[in-house]
Amino acid sequence: MESPIVFQGSEKAQRIQAMFAGIAPTYDQLNHWLSLNIDKRWRRAAVQEVADALARPGAQALDVCCGTADLAIELGRLVPTVGVDFCQPMLKRGMEKVRQSGHPVTLLAGDALALPFADASFDAVTVAFGIRNVVDLDGALAEMHRVLKPGGKVAILEFSHPVVPGLKQLFGLYFTQILPRIGNAISGSGYAYSYLPESVQHFPSQSALAAHMRQAGFENVRWRNLSGGIAALHTGLKPVVACS
Ligand SMILES: C[S@@+](CC[C@H](N)C(=O)[O-])C[C@H]1O[C@@H](n2cnc3c(N)ncnc32)[C@H](O)[C@@H]1O
Repeated sequence: MESPIVFQGSEKAQRIQAMFAGIAPTYDQLNHWLSLNIDKRWRRAAVQEVADALARPGAQALDVCCGTADLAIELGRLVPTVGVDFCQPMLKRGMEKVRQSGHPVTLLAGDALALPFADASFDAVTVAFGIRNVVDLDGALAEMHRVLKPGGKVAILEFSHPVVPGLKQLFGLYFTQILPRIGNAISGSGYAYSYLPESVQHFPSQSALAAHMRQAGFENVRWRNLSGGIAALHTGLKPVVACS
């Protein structure tokens, strides 16, 4: 846990890592307050999406960019789960929660761009609100595809682009004007909660992310909008005969 993490490392990745280290103490609380607890429902939806792939005997799940382990713990209710993140303070808080949960979850320090697992290790791979922060989207998708078993399922939960007229403007106002003020003040970060709406704005649309997933080799790529597209849940399968 305390060994340094080797990045495929840009300065940007190190800034992201430092940003999450700074907000780790207030991360969970702010997540739940600022989303009115809807984030919990979204994560449960992600687990439901991969539940079929985890029904096989001996199945195992991987949660990439696991942060404080909320999604990993939900997956751990079903099968033994590994969570990976490159930010030690986030993992440390996650480990306390894992211990309290009693679920079979192991948390490891690691980079989403160089996952420390052999090819075809997991039946399902998930990532929640993490892939937007990885400096190389296609690199992260390639790694998730690599460690997934043929026939396994990926689920990507991420903030997205609202599709409901009216909601787009209303949520935009909240997300860019109100949330950053509250988030930065409570977390003590000068920028983490200003970076959040900016990073979502630059993140691919629902259909564009699906195209990146197909490009990475996933098939049957689908998405559903959650809360009118404030978030989106993308899923895909690794073909049984995979071109890796
Ligand atoms: C917004 S948090 C999401 C945490 C958690 N998945 C959740 O649902 O609350 C994003 C996480 O991605 C992690 N992260 C960003 N880039 C990463 C990378 N290249 N490798 C591993 N973790 C990364 C950060 O350290 C942070 O914990």
